[in-house]
Amino acid sequence: MTKKVAFTAMDHGTQADYDLVCKHDARNAAQQADRVLEWLQQMDGDSPYQISRLDHCLQTATRAERDGADDETIACALLHDIGDILAPANHSQVAAALLQPYVSEKNHWIVKHHGLFQGYFWFEYINEDPNAREALKGHEYYDACVDFCARWDQVSFDPNYDSHSLQHFEPLVRELFAKKSAGFY
Ligand SMILES: [Fe+2]
Ligand SMILES: [Fe+2]
Repeated sequence: MTKKVAFTAMDHGTQADYDLVCKHDARNAAQQADRVLEWLQQMDGDSPYQISRLDHCLQTATRAERDGADDETIACALLHDIGDILAPANHSQVAAALLQPYVSEKNHWIVKHHGLFQGYFWFEYINEDPNAREALKGHEYYDACVDFCARWDQVSFDPNYDSHSLQHFEPLVRELFAKKSAGFY
């Protein structure tokens, strides 16, 4: 059985208690890549698109890789829709928050805003403004986010595209989440 802290309220904790908590948190952080890979697998279900949400992620990442993107950017392409699992109402922001400790400011910004930028291609059909992204015009990463959506994300719904498997990208995911140990807030 897992060793337990002595306290029942945090302000009664001792150094020994918090050493124990830190050990647990480090183990938990080390398992993050496994969890993320499981979440991706959960996206391999039914969808209204011609391919599953997992296949969309694989296709987006494969296109990024074939365009010569660096490993971190490919991993972000793979994980840009991971928020679908936890937060369908704000999937872009949740994916971005998950990735933030491990990626550049640029990649974080792109993932955070990709849903809004992707709206350019379909918001007219849901009574939203396709040009809503223009409110962010002038931002240093604006054009990169336009490119992410145009070249990799919005075109990745093709059942005939030859995507790499999840196994192919697994080392990238592990490398990404190994970059930083746990944060505590
Ligand atoms: Fe998305
Ligand atoms: Fe997407």
